[in-house]
Amino acid sequence: MKSQEVDKIWERLVAKVAVMAEGMKDRSPHRADKDGKYDSMPTWWWTSGFWPGLLWILFDMTQEPMFKEKAWKWDAEIENWLHEGELGQLHHDVGFQFLPTAVIKYMLTGDHAGKRRGLAAANYMAGRYNPVGQFIRAWNDGTWDKDNTTGWAIIDCSLNLSLLFWAANETADPRFKHIAISHADTVLQHFIRPDGSVNHIVSFDADTGAFIESLGGQGYGPHSSWSRGQAWAIYGMANTYRYTGEQRFLDAAKRVAHYFIACLPEDGVPYWDFRTPSLKDEPRDSSAGAIAASGLIEIANLLEPSESRLYQTAAERILSALTHRCGTWDLPNCEGILLHATGHKPGNVNVDVSLIYGDYYYVEAMAKLKGWRHRIF
Ligand code: GLY
Repeated sequence: MKSQEVDKIWERLVAKVAVMAEGMKDRSPHRADKDGKYDSMPTWWWTSGFWPGLLWILFDMTQEPMFKEKAWKWDAEIENWLHEGELGQLHHDVGFQFLPTAVIKYMLTGDHAGKRRGLAAANYMAGRYNPVGQFIRAWNDGTWDKDNTTGWAIIDCSLNLSLLFWAANETADPRFKHIAISHADTVLQHFIRPDGSVNHIVSFDADTGAFIESLGGQGYGPHSSWSRGQAWAIYGMANTYRYTGEQRFLDAAKRVAHYFIACLPEDGVPYWDFRTPSLKDEPRDSSAGAIAASGLIEIANLLEPSESRLYQTAAERILSALTHRCGTWDLPNCEGILLHATGHKPGNVNVDVSLIYGDYYYVEAMAKLKGWRHRIF
């Protein structure tokens, strides 16, 4: 993408987010409905960090105080949920919730409460580690109406590992890092298939650690290829390499990236699953594209220029497709930035809508193209 084009898109983004910020008030957005308006979820919901994270990136890039003011309060609200429920109201997604709130707030402003909350969340996440199975437990019982998820791990957790790597650096205590690496090795062993496609959920025996089965989750089926799961793996394994320097994680990130790039349709906007019986009339998932693009930029940044071009070009191709085919620039009533995201197709929930994490990763990836140097994940 030429730098003038990046500048133009960025200018439109800043204007769009400024309007969103005025209208959002206290809402914690997750999905925009048909009239374009974002909902408001309780802040225990896994997406509660993305809107504040988007505001923090805008603040960091523009130094406009309004973005900081609107981003400020969220980590304190989310923290309340760490102390609720028998196992806690939260789960492995504390990475998605505290990195774009508490941790970035601490990074950008030195706020000590942000640091404390980030470390509390990292301890919480580390406490979900199953040492026999070498995985971080994903959800609590009752999530998705399932009553025994003790042995479940999911591919999405790959990106939450950044919280543990951050905590290890911040405290100079390598236990956090050991847990993250151990989980990432389980991802290599049980989630990423030889062809670069990935499983969404893997169920283990929580007592013995033995592999039981792979479950379909939000994908079409246990052996399909849920595109957002692919995207979580690309970005998560690239980060794991960035934090550890261990070649096997970079190789894995590249393998999943190659599969993702090969599966992209002509127009560059991924389908929600790459392995459905027919792609005809299947919905797209722009959020998978946005997450993958941001992860591909990370891979590109980790390589020599001669090798990085493939990943950088693919990321820019996806971002250009999202901008031109999914952007709401000419739809002022739409609060969301991107259309055509799909949350949970098998559950028929949030199909072909705007989703806040799609918006977040699109903004994050565009910020990286603009030269943003801080990292949230
Ligand atoms: N982490 C849940 C999802 O990607 O829908």
